[in-house]
Amino acid sequence: MKRYERIAQDIAVMIRNGTLSTGERVPSMRQLRRDRSISPGTVRRAYELLQERGYIEALPRSGFYVTSYWQTAPPGPGTSQPRTRSTSPDVADLIFLVLEAMREPQLVPFGSAFPSPTLFPLAQLGRQLGETARHLDPRSTVEYLPPGSIALRRQIALRYQRFGVDVVPEEIIITAGGLEAINLSLRSVTRPGDVVAVESPAFYGYLQAIETFGLRAFEIPTHPRSGVDLDCLAAILKRHPVRACCLMTTFQNPLGALMPDEQKSRLVKLLGAHEIPLIEDDVYSELFFGIERPRPAKAFDHKGMVLHCNSFSKCLAPGYRVGWVAAGRFARTVERRKAVSTIATAVPVQEAISAYLRRSAYERHLRSLRRALQEQQRCMLQSIQAHFPGGYRVTRPAGGYVLWVELPSPIDGSQLHRIAVEHGISLAPGPIFSPRREFHHCIRLNYGHPWNAKLEEAMRTLGNLICELTAGSQERSSGERQ
Ligand SMILES: Cc1ncc(COP(=O)(O)O)c(C=O)c1O
Repeated sequence: MKRYERIAQDIAVMIRNGTLSTGERVPSMRQLRRDRSISPGTVRRAYELLQERGYIEALPRSGFYVTSYWQTAPPGPGTSQPRTRSTSPDVADLIFLVLEAMREPQLVPFGSAFPSPTLFPLAQLGRQLGETARHLDPRSTVEYLPPGSIALRRQIALRYQRFGVDVVPEEIIITAGGLEAINLSLRSVTRPGDVVAVESPAFYGYLQAIETFGLRAFEIPTHPRSGVDLDCLAAILKRHPVRACCLMTTFQNPLGALMPDEQKSRLVKLLGAHEIPLIEDDVYSELFFGIERPRPAKAFDHKGMVLHCNSFSKCLAPGYRVGWVAAGRFARTVERRKAVSTIATAVPVQEAISAYLRRSAYERHLRSLRRALQEQQRCMLQSIQAHFPGGYRVTRPAGGYVLWVELPSPIDGSQLHRIAVEHGISLAPGPIFSPRREFHHCIRLNYGHPWNAKLEEAMRTLGNLICELTAGSQERSSGERQ
C-alpha cells in the first residue's frame, strides 16, 4: 500500500468506528503534515482519496468534514439469535420458487444475486475469448483436466501474493463457478449426517447444498457488521460435533458483515485447535469500498485447514462460470471430486480469463465497478429512507451489492415477496436464508444495477406495499386483542 493510501485508510477507520463523527472537521492538511512528517503532496492525495470514497467533503475556506453519508442511516440490525440445535434444512423448494421469480427479465431485479451485466467488460472479454479459442493448443483439452489451466492458476496465485496471502498454484483447483467450489469442498470434508456450522442468516446456496448432501446445519449468531460471534462459536464447538464451517468473512451474503482481521485470525486458530476445516466463501472480496482489499481468513491459515472458494462471476465474467478453490491440505481430495463430478472446467474460458488477468485493464475495470456499486448503494439507502415507513433497520456494508432490511416486525417477508412480484418487483425474502425458514420480517435488496427513475419508482412501490402490509397486520392484531 502506498503512503497516502495508508493515511487515508487510518482516517477512514476513525470515521467508520465513530472516532470522527458526522460533520466533524478532520485534521487540517497542515496539522497532518506536521504530525506525520509527510509531504504536502502525500496529504493532498490522501484527502483526495477520502473525498473520492465519500468519507469527507471540502467546505470552501473552512477545511474537510466527515460527510453525513456514513452516519445518517437508521441503526442497523442486531446480532441474530438462532436456536442452539442443528437441523436438516427444509428450504430448497422455497429457494427454487424465489430463484425462478428472480430470473424473470421484466421484473425490477432487487432480488437478483448478480450485479448488472452492463457493469462488466463483456465486449473485451468476448474478443479475448475469440482470440484465445482461435489459438488454442489442441492438447490443452487433455492437459487441463483438474486441477485446471496452469496459466490461470498462476495468475490467481499471483493475485493472492499481491494481497499478502501465501497460496501456490498447486493447491488451486479451477471449478465451474464459486458454488461448485463450495459444493466440492463440502463433499470433500463431510459425510452425510455431519453437522456444518453456518452464519445466521446464511447464503441460501449453502443451505441447498447441506440439504442435498444429507448434512445438518448449525446456525451461529451473527452480527451484521462483524460476522459470526466467536465466543458463541467456541462454546458450540465444545458441546457439538461440528465437522466443518461454511462462512463468508468478507461482505457476507445477505448481511454484508466484514470480520475484522483479528477476528479472522482468531476464527482460524479456534477451528484449527478443533481440527475443523473452514470453507471460506470470498466471492465479494474484490467489491470493497474501502481503500484496500480485505484479507481473507485464509491469510491466517498455517495448517492448510482453510478451503478458500472464489469466482470471477461477481467481479469480472458473469456467465463464464469460472471459479476456484485454494484447498490447502484438501487439494488432492477436491481435485478428485472435481474430476468425478464434471471431468473439467471448460478450457477456452479458463484461457480467456487467464489472458485478461495479465492486462492492466482488470484493475481499471475493478475500480470503476467498485465506484459504481458504492454510488448505487448510496442511492438505494437514500431511497429506503425516502419511501419506507419508520421502524425498519438496514445494513450498510462496506462492499458487495446487497442490503439486508429488517422490516417492522409484524410484516411477513414471503408475503411481501409474492405481492411485490405481482407489482413487477423481485426481492429475496428472509426465510430463504434460514434452514428453518425464519427471518420472516427481513428482505435482501440488490443495489447492483445503475440507479434510474424506474428503480426509484419501484422503491416507492415497495415502500407503499410495506406500509399497506404493516397497517393490515396492525389492524388484525388490534382486532384480535378486542
Ligand atoms: C455468497 C455467494 N457465494 C457463492 C455464489 C456462487 O457464485 P458463482 O456464481 O460463481 O457460482 C454466490 C452467487 O450468488 C453467492 O452470492
